Amino acid sequence: MHSFTAQILEKNGFILENGDWYSLTSAISKNEALFIKEIISNSNPQSTLEIGCAEGVSSMVICSSISPNAHHTILDPNQYLEWKGMGIRNLKECGFSNFDLIEDYSEFTLPTLLKSGKRFDFVFVDGWHTFDHVLMEFLYINRLLNVGGVVVFDDVALPPLNKLMRYISNYPNYVPIGSAGPFYESNSRKVLDYFKRMISYIILPFGRKINNEFFDDTVLRSNSSLKINGSICAFKKIDDDKRGWAWYKHF
Ligand SMILES: C[S@@+](CC[C@H](N)C(=O)[O-])C[C@H]1O[C@@H](n2cnc3c(N)ncnc32)[C@H](O)[C@@H]1O
Repeated sequence: MHSFTAQILEKNGFILENGDWYSLTSAISKNEALFIKEIISNSNPQSTLEIGCAEGVSSMVICSSISPNAHHTILDPNQYLEWKGMGIRNLKECGFSNFDLIEDYSEFTLPTLLKSGKRFDFVFVDGWHTFDHVLMEFLYINRLLNVGGVVVFDDVALPPLNKLMRYISNYPNYVPIGSAGPFYESNSRKVLDYFKRMISYIILPFGRKINNEFFDDTVLRSNSSLKINGSICAFKKIDDDKRGWAWYKHF
């Protein structure tokens, strides 16, 4: 990883233009950075996309992991409005120039990228975290991503994103390729999950169809069995989307 990026992750902050120390508030963790780096080095993407730049940590990790002739596209409507351009300044500080920032909302930009024929081999999603918003983003990502490409989601331990990861794990044209970082914030969640697993064994004989009518999917399929039990997780697109018009699977 680029030494300036590694330093920011190690110290959890950086020095601003005016000399003040700035502590990170919204960035991915060191573990998550290593997860992204490993996925990129295993897949060697040529065209990458990211939603949500903020302090620029994930952008720096992506730019330092892709090959020098690959290109990174960043979407963030607030990079200058809210973040005072610090993400872009950090990228420039590292000497990266193989990226461009589109200062607009994903809901406006993703359809434009799709319509223009743009395609990506790697997408990192870390913007607005409601279920509906990230589902909307995935609707476009599913079409923007080349077969063989990877999509990575951050903050998937949050309930809206965990729910969405369960939905995406049902897609026939994606396989989960791993997760990292802590999933459980409290011991009570761990205990709850343990009881859910016990219940799942007891109700197994009733069959999936009947159990779907009575139980939440988290009782029927654990997050670990779906490989989404982390704070960040990745799916590989293994085929074009061939689902029918009314496709649905319990999640
Ligand atoms: C958690 S921060 C991203 C942190 C960054 N990925 C990192 O690890 O350094 C979320 C970012 O999403 C951006 N954002 C919020 N709504 C968005 C939207 N609709 N489209 C694109 N970006 C959005 C915010 O401006 C913010 O910079």
